[in-house]
Amino acid sequence: MASSDGPLKIFTGRAHADLAQRVAQHLGLPLGKLRIGDFKDGEIQVVIEENVRGVDAFIIQPTIRPNETLLELLIVVDALRRASARRITAVIPYYGYGRQDRKTRGREPITAKLIANLLVTAGADRVLTVDLHAGQIQGFFDIPVDHLTGVPLLAAHFCSPDVEDIVVVCPDAGEGGIPRARRLAELLDVPLAIVDKRRPAPNVSEVMNVIGSVEGKTAILMDDIIDTAGSVVNAADALRRMGAKEVHAACVHPVLSGSALEWLRDGPVSQVVVCDTIPLPPAAAQQLGSRLHVLSTAGLLGDAISRVHEDRSITELMTQRHQRPQSERD
Ligand code: R5P
Repeated sequence: MASSDGPLKIFTGRAHADLAQRVAQHLGLPLGKLRIGDFKDGEIQVVIEENVRGVDAFIIQPTIRPNETLLELLIVVDALRRASARRITAVIPYYGYGRQDRKTRGREPITAKLIANLLVTAGADRVLTVDLHAGQIQGFFDIPVDHLTGVPLLAAHFCSPDVEDIVVVCPDAGEGGIPRARRLAELLDVPLAIVDKRRPAPNVSEVMNVIGSVEGKTAILMDDIIDTAGSVVNAADALRRMGAKEVHAACVHPVLSGSALEWLRDGPVSQVVVCDTIPLPPAAAQQLGSRLHVLSTAGLLGDAISRVHEDRSITELMTQRHQRPQSERD
């Protein structure tokens, strides 16, 4: 494939090489030759092992564990720029540090903006990302950002005759999650309820109230991120107390840090449905067994990369993917 931005090449960092490999397969391309290692003192060493002069380069790296993966991404972008790639797109399926997107009290940083500045300074010309914690982070960049969503993949999963009488529940009234949960509710054509959650301390959540009717229903908790799983498990407990007959958890980014797997394993959630924007911890399958469902974003990312490369519309791609799943429309 070639466009005015040069031939297309896909590279991967070390954060999620498996996803990058599947994206490359979807596009029928080999991954670009890139060697990444560590010096003895921990510094990252990058060597691009093929000619990228005049190339339309895409580097795939979710910035999970961002203190390592973000720096690696910046260094690869720098290497591509200095090797004369014509255009560099940072493909960031999960945008780490995105949750600190504003000052909630005095003397705090806004890391989501800092990371945007760093990416542009390193030499990124565009960003392609999935379900930013808050959509307005797009505006932290003065370069084009293509913002994809995994919600239609989750909708297709739940669009099954086995799951009936659904209510989609947003586990957080106070953040940017309501439009995302509403979108899932619209795609499934079901009502929406909202959990009023408070955070007395970082990584600690408390359910104050549930707005909407959940009694006798199958509740799908829709969040962008499951991190410690505190939000989802506390919300699931509250929903069960309020009469929900079953609770499923759906998220785009399975961060799953700390004791999240144990919490999910021991909590009242019947299914945990996640996208593969982040590699799962090795123990996930063992801990959650058949309750865990992982949906692939490789096709979505691959189609988006091909459209960016060919100057075709991403809006059209998202419109197609936002249509109600076929089995619902028949
Ligand atoms: C809220 O800020 C996010 O949308 C998620 O609800 C949050 O990151 C989940 O974190 P945890 O799983 O640690 O409660």
